[in-house]
Amino acid sequence: MDHKLIQRAAKDILNSKKTIAFTGAGISAESGIPDFRSAGGLWEKFDPEEYADIHAFHTNPEKVWLMLKEMFSLIMTAKPNPAHLGLAELERMGYLSSVITQNVDGLHQLAGSRNVIEFHGTHRTLSCLKCSFTLDGTSLKMEDLPPRCSRCSSLLKPDVVFFGEPIPWEAQTVSFKESKSCSAVLVIGTSAVVYPAASIPITAKERGAMIIEINREPTPLTDGISDYLILGSAGEIIPAIIEEVKRIR
Ligand code: OAD
Repeated sequence: MDHKLIQRAAKDILNSKKTIAFTGAGISAESGIPDFRSAGGLWEKFDPEEYADIHAFHTNPEKVWLMLKEMFSLIMTAKPNPAHLGLAELERMGYLSSVITQNVDGLHQLAGSRNVIEFHGTHRTLSCLKCSFTLDGTSLKMEDLPPRCSRCSSLLKPDVVFFGEPIPWEAQTVSFKESKSCSAVLVIGTSAVVYPAASIPITAKERGAMIIEINREPTPLTDGISDYLILGSAGEIIPAIIEEVKRIR
């Protein structure tokens, strides 16, 4: 961990009028939820075209639910890690306006973050594709897959965005409003290859915001969009930044 960059990030947060966080699967890796594209990630095991596409879900829900079942059991038992907790603390201290997350695990909210925008929806609730009945993931029985609606017996789908589905309108609108009005973005644990999500930091940069990237490796944003990259694990870097913010504020 580069301490000079930790100090720089703390100063940039203190000098910023409005800071937002943009997070991806890497922030939840230390909570035991593998990301998608790293070695050992979800897309190594499940081809996204076969498992994460909305047409695949309609054509072969039994198969897609095998992956969803695995995601459910990981997500429902996962706990927030120091990176999630750190962002919640930064918000409580008044230095973070919102967290825009591509994650569907609900760990930011569990950590105590209040203003969370779920760009790709959530795994914690499900909806019936026919009658729109919604239920909480904790009350889901996994014995018979795919699970069906208790009211009308139609297919249940987690409220996550599949490839081929639109981004929830409100999440998209609020996210881009945040990205256009902020002066710094913490881009944490995302490969930044999935659009339109990845255009959030780019939009902010175009409006003059400082882009602070935290990742175990460089991404397509690193050269050209990010002002600097703090290399390492989010679970170590975020708490270190918060400590520095507290020390110098
Ligand atoms: P990816 O799996 O594409 O990228 C995860 C990023 O996190 C990589 O750049 C890793 O280097 C980094 N990383 C992993 N562990 C880390 C750690 N402990 N600390 C810091 N960085 C770490 O995940 P996303 O960018 O979130 O969409 O993927 C974007 C979207 O693609 C997801 O929301 C999902 C997926 O398809 C949908 O399902 C619609």
